[in-house]
Parts: sequence; C-alpha cells; structure tokens
Amino acid sequence: MSTAVAGKGLEGIVAANSGICWIDGEAGVLAYRGIDIHELAVNSTFEETTYLLWNGHLPNPLALREFQAQLALARELDQRIIDMLRSFPASATPMEVLRTAVSALSFYDADEKDNSHDANVRKSYNLTAQIAMIVAIYDRLRKGKEIVPPDRSLSHAGNFLWMLNGVKPSETATRTLDIALILHADHELNASTFAARVIAATLSDIHSAVTGAIGALKGPLHGGANEAVMRLLLAIDKAGADPVEYVKNMLAAKQKVSGFGHRVYKTEDPRATHLRKMSEQLGKDAGQSKWFEMSRAIELYVKNEKKLNANVDFYSASTYAMLGIDIDLYTPIFAISRIAGWAAHVIEQLDDNRLIRPRAEYIGPIYPTHWTSMDTRG
Ligand SMILES: CC(C)(COP(=O)(O)OP(=O)(O)OC[C@H]1O[C@@H](n2cnc3c(N)ncnc32)[C@H](O)[C@@H]1OP(=O)(O)O)[C@@H](O)C(=O)NCCC(=O)NCCS
Repeated sequence: MSTAVAGKGLEGIVAANSGICWIDGEAGVLAYRGIDIHELAVNSTFEETTYLLWNGHLPNPLALREFQAQLALARELDQRIIDMLRSFPASATPMEVLRTAVSALSFYDADEKDNSHDANVRKSYNLTAQIAMIVAIYDRLRKGKEIVPPDRSLSHAGNFLWMLNGVKPSETATRTLDIALILHADHELNASTFAARVIAATLSDIHSAVTGAIGALKGPLHGGANEAVMRLLLAIDKAGADPVEYVKNMLAAKQKVSGFGHRVYKTEDPRATHLRKMSEQLGKDAGQSKWFEMSRAIELYVKNEKKLNANVDFYSASTYAMLGIDIDLYTPIFAISRIAGWAAHVIEQLDDNRLIRPRAEYIGPIYPTHWTSMDTRG
C-alpha cells in the first residue's frame, strides 16, 4: 500500500479533533476554550485557566474556590519521592530530575491503576501540584537548603515562589509568574502535548504520558528554548559584544537564534506580547533594563533581517531572570504550567480514544533484499 507523505515534521497535518485550544497562526490568535489569551492574561489566574482547560467553561465563584482548595490540598509529596530527589547526581539538571521524578509519582498515587475519567482528573490535580513542588524542592536540595513546606493559603504561582525561595513573594512577582503560567498553559498539538496524546492513546497511564511530554518539552526546539535564550544573552554580555553584531554573526553562520520562529504563527506570537511587556516593566522597576534592552535590539534585528518573530520563549528568559530565577529552572517552569494542557489533552483523548498509529513512507533498500552469509560480505 502506498501512502502520501505528510509535510516533513507533520507540518500542516491535522492529527486530532480537540475542543481545548484554538490557534490562528496567520492572525496571531490563541484562545483557550474560545477565550482569547489576551483576555485571560489580563483577567484570569492560573487556577481559573486550568479549570477552564479541564472543564470547558469558566468556573462560578464556588467552583473556583473548590478548585483552588483541591489544588492546594494536593500539595503533598511522598517522602520516598523526596528521598529519591536527594539521591540524584549533582550533574542532573532540574528538567531531567523532573522527568524521572514524575515517572515515579505513579507508584504513590492512590489511583495508579485506574485509567477512568474521574481518576485521571484526580491524578491531574496531584500532578499539577506535585510538579511545582518537585522543581522547588529539588532546587533547595541541590543548594543544600532546607525544604520549605507548602503554604496552602497561597496561589499556585505564589506557593511555587515561596517553596523555591523561602520568603513570601511580592505581589508583582506572584502576578508576573501567574501570567506566565496562564500564557504557557496550553498550545494545541505542540510536540509535548502530541507526545502525551500518543502515549495516552495506547491506554497507558497519565503519568507515562506526562513523563513523555516532559521529555519532549526539554528539547531546545520546544520548551528548552527559554533557557537557550538566556544563555545567549549571558554569552553576549560576557563577551561585551554588541547584541546585533553577535546575532548577525550567528545568522551568517547559519545558526538558529533561540526564541524566534514558530511552526504555526506567521506573525507575533500573542504570548510574546505579554512577556515582552512584563520583561520591560520588571527591568524598569529594578533599574536593570540590560536584559530587556538586549532582547529588544535582537528582536528588532531578527524581525527585520529574517522576518522571524519572537516566540513565547524569547521574553520568558529576561522575565524569569528579573524574577531572580536560575536559568535551568526556566523549562521546568514551562512544565509547571503546561501540565494543565497535557492533562486536559490526555483526558480529552481518553474520552474518545483511538490508537494513534500513522504510517511511514518507506525509503529503505528495495524489498526483497536478501540476507547473505558472512563470507560473501565485503
Ligand atoms: C520553532 C521552530 C522549531 C519551528 O521550526 P520549523 O517550523 O520546522 O521551521 P524551520 O526550522 O524549518 O525553519 C524555516 C526557516 O526559517 C529559519 N529559521 C527558523 N527559526 C529560526 C531561528 N530561530 N533562527 C534563525 N533561523 C530560523 C530556518 O533556518 C529555515 O530557513 P531556511 O528555509 O533558509 O532553511 C524554529 O523556528 C526554531 O528552531 N526556533 C528556535 C527554537 C525555538 O525558539 N523554539 C521554541 C518554539 S516556541
């Protein structure tokens, strides 16, 4: 049987029906359950947005209170997971640690063997709370600091900053992170979400799906780009170089500039609009606009020279830097948010499941090519 070859990298291929996230790449529109991301970024919270992604509609006040309480209650990590975090080698990156620890979370989840809709919702609360805790706790452990117990009175963003730093976060820091989490919460069939759906569709389990998704997110063409952007800014700063000249040389050497380009957006990534604004404001507030100004100069140059727009990762870097967050936590923070979307997609997949099993166009040696004995091989 001969099959048509899909666009390389499945470009332009529609691979699922989904009611979660809508993107118009030409117009630069992103909407969760029909609600424009700009409205959510200004008015919503990560918790409300997660409720929206999981339930398909905004919560009323009581439903939101219950949802927040459920998420806060789920801030529990089995001691054996913490012991495991202590045992990882110093060379382990937080993203590798997260991938491995999330896989182990299933052992201690009461619903481990239950793949029903309701069990997966319960596991999604746990995963959402636990992923943020793992990132914060591992960072404390690797720095030889005491673990900070969760504060259930704080929001998801606020509690993460609290557990990370051991001081109550400012309103500005909490709201900045909260907006970043809203912006990263879902993005249709991005690579990690597609990976999660493929795994879920085999009727494996949500922990396996999320573990696979974290592995996909880690790559520098996906979530890993935010860390790569900051490493670029630091390299330019260290070299005392002009950012535009530096990037010009990269492009001349046919290198990609992290934080630019997108498979779907052909115009401004609507998430970048908010991150740019926050990066600029935080820089102004701190009287430390270096990272923002460097980023802006690079953005204008790349846009003008290559017609490439900054994506979600470009200004995440300088925003997180201004929040005082370590570079190798940037991609884990993406995961702290994207678990909302992964969970929504896994549950949606399982509610109307069919195995995801595409075909490949065969381009190998002609069939039949025969096995030959060793003494006849050159
Ligand atoms: C996001 C990304 C993977 C999309 O990839 P894609 O749709 O497969 O697009 P391609 O990699 O095929 O790029 C198409 C063209 O634009 C160029 N291009 C794309 N992104 C570029 C970048 N960040 N810097 C320089 N050139 C870039 C490619 O070199 C290619 O040029 P060519 O046709 O002359 O070879 C890609 O833009 C990229 O690698 N960006 C940097 C990593 C990043 O920021 N990832 C986070 C995405 S949210």
